[in-house]
Amino acid sequence: METEKKNVIPEAVDPAQVPKHTLYTGCEIPAVGIGTFGSDKYSAAEIAEAVYGAVRGGYRLIDCASVYQNEKEIGGALTRLFEEGSVTREELFITGKVWNDMHGEGMVERSCRQSLEDLGVDYLDLYLVHWPFPNYHAPGCDGDSRNPDSRPFFAEEYMQVWRQCERLVELGLVRHIGMSNMTIPKLEAVLPQCRIRPAAIEMELHPGFQQPELFAYVQEHGMVPIGYCPIGSPSRPERDRTAEDVADTQMPEIVKIAEAHQVHPAIVCIKWAVQNGQIPIPFSVKPAQYLENLRCAVTDPLTEEEMEMIRRADKNCRLVKGQVFLWPGASDWKDLWDEDGTICGWEEKGTC
Ligand SMILES: NC(=O)c1ccc[n+]([C@@H]2O[C@H](COP(=O)([O-])OP(=O)(O)OC[C@H]3O[C@@H](n4cnc5c(N)ncnc54)[C@H](OP(=O)(O)O)[C@@H]3O)[C@@H](O)[C@H]2O)c1
Repeated sequence: METEKKNVIPEAVDPAQVPKHTLYTGCEIPAVGIGTFGSDKYSAAEIAEAVYGAVRGGYRLIDCASVYQNEKEIGGALTRLFEEGSVTREELFITGKVWNDMHGEGMVERSCRQSLEDLGVDYLDLYLVHWPFPNYHAPGCDGDSRNPDSRPFFAEEYMQVWRQCERLVELGLVRHIGMSNMTIPKLEAVLPQCRIRPAAIEMELHPGFQQPELFAYVQEHGMVPIGYCPIGSPSRPERDRTAEDVADTQMPEIVKIAEAHQVHPAIVCIKWAVQNGQIPIPFSVKPAQYLENLRCAVTDPLTEEEMEMIRRADKNCRLVKGQVFLWPGASDWKDLWDEDGTICGWEEKGTC
């Protein structure tokens, strides 16, 4: 139970009213969080200010990552919130992620400790392996850029990263560990080898990309799905855009339901996510937007018919294709996602 808080804004949502998921450890995680990737469009200072406002507005889950290059500024916002008595560390659920260039032996702990220092906290609630490849691209690079050192997924290599994550739990630096941008074949390859199981899987999820098989697999294996790009990332960088992409906020089904509820189509996407069972982490630096993104989880739910209408509207349209992580010899971005049920690598598929 949260104690009486100073500095809560009038439009705030009571965090106690926000639904929660329970991780396999018994720890609770809020059903909506705020994203912190500025899509090369918003500054670290703007994002930190949004985190400050969001927590005052009732958010308790913050999705961070070292590659977003704003953890220091977000740390400043958190320090302000703690010092003002707006929230305590224990009331927050903070996610961090290790970036692809920090997979080497000893580097995961170094990266985690850096995030802790930057965020000004002494533990993270959840620490994710951001991508299952050690393939580095410079932040902000364009979609055609390739790193000649890039390599396909190898379960043995991934497990070396995971062992380091397990060590973070043992050291008390993180409470849970999880994975991001995985596929069923990759999960099948690594889950049996995990000493500490992933508590959550972060994956792209929005009405136009529902990943029903992976979503079901994650839930059936006792992990909580966290959905990124829940609104279809309308401000995403150019490198993540192609001509075929479907805009979720313009899908006729979403627009129709939005009209019926008299809300922005973005709000329908978030309501759908919460009711569908994933944890959406919408991003916004605009107070009216981020407050409504949380409030919509506790007001005016979608009907069963509307949920079904959205389920049928799935376009299987992946937006974050990850093409900058491709290795020499890979054919296209689909090689990253094991669409035919096998892991695409040098050995399994020749030159693949
Ligand atoms: N694990 C991973 O690999 C991974 C990958 C991608 C993202 N993520 C995480 O997921 C978070 C969310 O994804 P995202 O930021 O790409 O996309 P998103 O949350 O789907 O879209 C964010 C954009 O939607 C618009 N928006 C937000 N609330 C709105 C509202 N109420 N009404 C109208 N428009 C609204 C804003 O556009 P304007 O800016 O134009 O206002 C905002 O920039 C990220 O911030 C990051 O934390 C993780």
